[in-house]
Amino acid sequence: MNRPSRPDTGADKTPDRRVRMLTKTTGQTDMNFKKTLLAAALTLSAGLAMAADLPQVAILATGGTIAGTAASATQTTGYKAGDLAIQTLIDAVPQIKDYATVTGEQIVKISSNNLTDQVLLTLAKRCNELLADPKVSGIVITHGTDTLEETAFFLNLTVKSKKPVVVIGAMRPATAISADGPMNLLNAVKLAADPKAQDRGVLVALNDQISSGRDVTKSNTTNVATFKSPDLGYLGYIAGGKNYFLRNPAMRHTHQSEFDVSKLDKLPRVDILYTHASDDRVLADAAIAAGAKGIVHAGSGNGSVHGQTEPALAEAVQKGIAVVLSSRTGSGVVCPNEEQYNKAGFIEGRTLNPQKARLLLQLALTKTNDPKEIARMFEEY
Ligand code: SIN
Repeated sequence: MNRPSRPDTGADKTPDRRVRMLTKTTGQTDMNFKKTLLAAALTLSAGLAMAADLPQVAILATGGTIAGTAASATQTTGYKAGDLAIQTLIDAVPQIKDYATVTGEQIVKISSNNLTDQVLLTLAKRCNELLADPKVSGIVITHGTDTLEETAFFLNLTVKSKKPVVVIGAMRPATAISADGPMNLLNAVKLAADPKAQDRGVLVALNDQISSGRDVTKSNTTNVATFKSPDLGYLGYIAGGKNYFLRNPAMRHTHQSEFDVSKLDKLPRVDILYTHASDDRVLADAAIAAGAKGIVHAGSGNGSVHGQTEPALAEAVQKGIAVVLSSRTGSGVVCPNEEQYNKAGFIEGRTLNPQKARLLLQLALTKTNDPKEIARMFEEY
């Protein structure tokens, strides 16, 4: 039952009572305020503690379509690659904050068809500096897809760590409908922070597929499912937000590698010659005249050399230039073929495609000119 409220006579409102009431009210307000402050402080410190607990991932940006912009959302060719800075790409994926604390560093802003040996050396050195820091769990490299496989393989040979290094890109510019970059970036950060991704060599992760940086190649000019490892398949998949690993690379990589670029500021010149019908020695002679220290021959079939070009390559070996036989077929092993190739001192490029054979030969030449030693490296990496 509600009692009628007492008439306010004012008689009770002695200064004392008012002060008491005010004091009581103020005390409650103070208490509430303190509670709110405490709650805020607890939330903040819990947030900070959580952020401190999250793995640290460094993102190194080099440009490419993942940072590309176009005039319209439907434009997926003829756009400006490498236009956006790394912080813009990170800000576009706020979900990253749930999985890792990231830092972004712009190494270069290029379309990756303009990749240079200097960029490769800069990336390798920066990865090694960052990974030496115990606080850093892994690295993501954003890259154009055109030469992504080269950077991934070069780092696979020169990074001195078991921690994950994940190279990613996108096939659609950041401004496109269904741009693939943001999901690729989120997946890559999670992969770089995942202890399961350790000691598997440098990884490439696009389109929910995890590939070995050694084996993977760009197989389609424009499709988002472009990265394939012919005959070998993926190392794993990303599904339902989780990483699923299926296998490990068998060849030497990263911390097992003998190559050290820490004191190098350039790499030896190695040219690639691509054979064709009516091939002659013109390009081989041009490579020799340009001062090549090595030549990778992208031969037909099992590394075969056109009869018109073979004498030029044999002469190159006589001049101290290392000649590696690779294949333009896209898969398989270049293994012993013509007896005269052995006699000429040509080196079998085994399972590396020409652009990857070039990188291994460059690194090999930083250590030795001995064809037997170089052949050993092609067997092991
Ligand atoms: C590039 O390689 O920089 C352009 C193409 C791409 O990233 O897909």
